[in-house]
Amino acid sequence: MSDEMKRSDEMKRSDETPTPPDRAEPGRETAARPLPPKRAQIVLSGTKPTGEHLHLGNYFGALRQFVDLQDQHDTALYFIADYHSMTTLRNGPERRRNTLNVALDYLAAGLDPARAILFRQSDLPEVAELTWFLTSVTPMGMLERAHAYKAAIDKGEDVDHGLFTYPVLMAADILLYGSHLVPVGRDQKQHIEMARDMAHRFNRLYDCEALTLPEPYILEETATVPGTDGRKMSKSYGNTIAMFAAKKALQKSVMGIVTDSTPVEAPKDTAQAVFEIWSLFATPPEREAMLERARAGGLGYGDVKKDLFTRLMDYFEPMRARRAALEARPDEIEAILRAGAVRARALAMPVLEACREAAGVGPLR
Ligand code: ADP
Ligand code: TRP
Repeated sequence: MSDEMKRSDEMKRSDETPTPPDRAEPGRETAARPLPPKRAQIVLSGTKPTGEHLHLGNYFGALRQFVDLQDQHDTALYFIADYHSMTTLRNGPERRRNTLNVALDYLAAGLDPARAILFRQSDLPEVAELTWFLTSVTPMGMLERAHAYKAAIDKGEDVDHGLFTYPVLMAADILLYGSHLVPVGRDQKQHIEMARDMAHRFNRLYDCEALTLPEPYILEETATVPGTDGRKMSKSYGNTIAMFAAKKALQKSVMGIVTDSTPVEAPKDTAQAVFEIWSLFATPPEREAMLERARAGGLGYGDVKKDLFTRLMDYFEPMRARRAALEARPDEIEAILRAGAVRARALAMPVLEACREAAGVGPLR
């Protein structure tokens, strides 16, 4: 296939990709949320097991879309990125505990092994082989432009090769299963663009079509959920509100959301994190009414936070109950992940074989 044909094929694919719906009603589990039409596409995403619990950024930025998309697509794969967590977490037992916790959070949030393939990244070490294939076609310059790497260098950190090559492993995750759509928060957009570039380069250099070019799926409304200090909510900033933390700890994080020192009577700046986080749990009319009150003055931050805490507890209560029930059955979780790995391998092997064939790697034919 000529380069020109490949380019137009790519454009066609990107045109066919559903545009993320305009989330008119974020937050409410009961509210009707518009979804893209059901597609014969492969959806894939992953989460690093780097903390005890997932947080509101993970949930509204990614996990909630995972749940929606498992019904909207024929094949959805969601994994726990234990290999990726190795660039920051150097404690084996903790990684194992966190891995189980992400699996519990996934299932509690509504991921269903009957509708989605749930697995552990390291159960398919084949991904490391594809990482090597991709590494060999990835320009240094591309990786040097990666946000996470640049940020670490700017901070003067000692950077491991694992952090530098992180985007290649992530591309291998996506490409190994022939994924079309990758639901993530905005911070991951660049990684998906890099995966597209790597796939395109591999296909072009080996004159093959072994790899499918993926698209990000990012919802504008919740692309970057702010943390308690107003910066992006992230484990690495210590500004998270965890989905399933103990009630007391949750209350503490909610009451600790940073606000300005405007007195109760004065009009408030509605761009503050406290309003944005509160809005995650409100319908659009509720949100409008709240912002109106805030602009008018007479609204205390303490009251907003208390209401947020109540809404948050109510919202996650059914999931919390599901999680508590699952926690008692770790063997079942392990069985789900193993069964998921078998199904994931069935998708991965033809892709990997096509790459080996194109690259002339493996037994002589
Ligand atoms: P963290 O930044 O806390 O380490 P991860 O990197 O494990 O979180 O993120 C897992 C998923 O959650 C990714 O798809 C990521 O884009 C999404 N995500 C993380 N934080 C946020 C946020 N604050 N807003 C929106 N999405 C987020
Ligand atoms: N890098 C992602 C994060 O930090 C996790 C991840 C690893 C991922 N592999 C992936 C996400 C493949 C989507 C697709 O959140």
